[in-house]
Amino acid sequence: MITDISEAARHTIEVSSASGAYPVFVGPALLDRLPAVVSTYAPAKRLAVIADDQVGPVHGALVAEALIDAGHDVTCMTFPEGEASKTRKTWSILTDEMLDAGLGRDCVVVAVGGGVTTDLAGFVAATYMRGVPIVQVPTSTLAMIDASVGGKTGVDVRVGKNLVGAFHAPRAVVADTAVLATLDATNRSEGLVEALKHGAIRDEAHFTAVVKAAHSLAEADADAWAECIAASVRLKADVVAQDEFEGGFRQILNFGHTIGHAIEAAADYRIGHGRAVAYGMIAEARLGERLGVTDSGTADRLTEALAPVTARDALDVDPSRAFGFLDADKKSRGGRARYVVLCRIGEVDGAEGWAREVDDDDVKAALDGVLSGW
Ligand code: GLY
Repeated sequence: MITDISEAARHTIEVSSASGAYPVFVGPALLDRLPAVVSTYAPAKRLAVIADDQVGPVHGALVAEALIDAGHDVTCMTFPEGEASKTRKTWSILTDEMLDAGLGRDCVVVAVGGGVTTDLAGFVAATYMRGVPIVQVPTSTLAMIDASVGGKTGVDVRVGKNLVGAFHAPRAVVADTAVLATLDATNRSEGLVEALKHGAIRDEAHFTAVVKAAHSLAEADADAWAECIAASVRLKADVVAQDEFEGGFRQILNFGHTIGHAIEAAADYRIGHGRAVAYGMIAEARLGERLGVTDSGTADRLTEALAPVTARDALDVDPSRAFGFLDADKKSRGGRARYVVLCRIGEVDGAEGWAREVDDDDVKAALDGVLSGW
């Protein structure tokens, strides 16, 4: 469908979903077009704009103002920034605020923020009145490349990350690359990790292109980011189209995440998701090499590509504590963690399903190695 925004967006990627295909718009200066997106893809008079307390006053306010000017009734809600807010408690505060504001089943949620916001607001939308539409407006590289696309929503619980949640596809995703200039370098590098992951599992040429563009991406080059985000989203959309509800194949998107989530939890979420996944990818590639499945040299390529993220400073995480979080991963079957194993950069091994159990000793060796810095 041709609308104002698809003409303005540099890239439009269609993602298929059981609840209907939705567009991901990528390019600069798209936030102003949000009223057109809402009226086309999620028409509603009453909107709940959800953002954290850092993004809310900046991009959230801009979005709310544009929507109010377009005639919407907007309820703005914020929560404290950070992974520590991605909880059932914050979910209940936000849903109570929506109930207090009298929002009904005919409202739409507009989520403005990074991965915590896309997941948390997504879970609010998935459950409010048994589900209301959501428009995702990711404002971090990680959320643009990964978290806002594919419909996964949820919160963290005591035993691990994202263990309570729902699939709830958005009606549209608006990734305005102009906002990336407001991020710090650490924040920008988080998205680099997920872009490299998409290349590592599906497309060696994309992996190489991201490595080549790393300098421009670090310098916040908006054009380089628009290309990187669009290419990454295309790869993710293709996987989601084949297995939206993660019956099997979609598990490949979790490459690096089994160990990455355990590291993140063992660090009490003091380190960013992207950085934890960077270590997770290297560890899982070393694990694959140890198993004789992954071509040797693959982990070294990943280590080199991820150096902008991992080389910053030492990671102070106890390997045995991280090991303790592994079996709570959501790919676990029968209480045992499962791992996505690469054949090489660009291809996942599917010989034992898309994720497999591995002996504890092999996992411990990979974890010890990556956490002790080889
Ligand atoms: N972030 C992994 C997925 O969307 O499946």
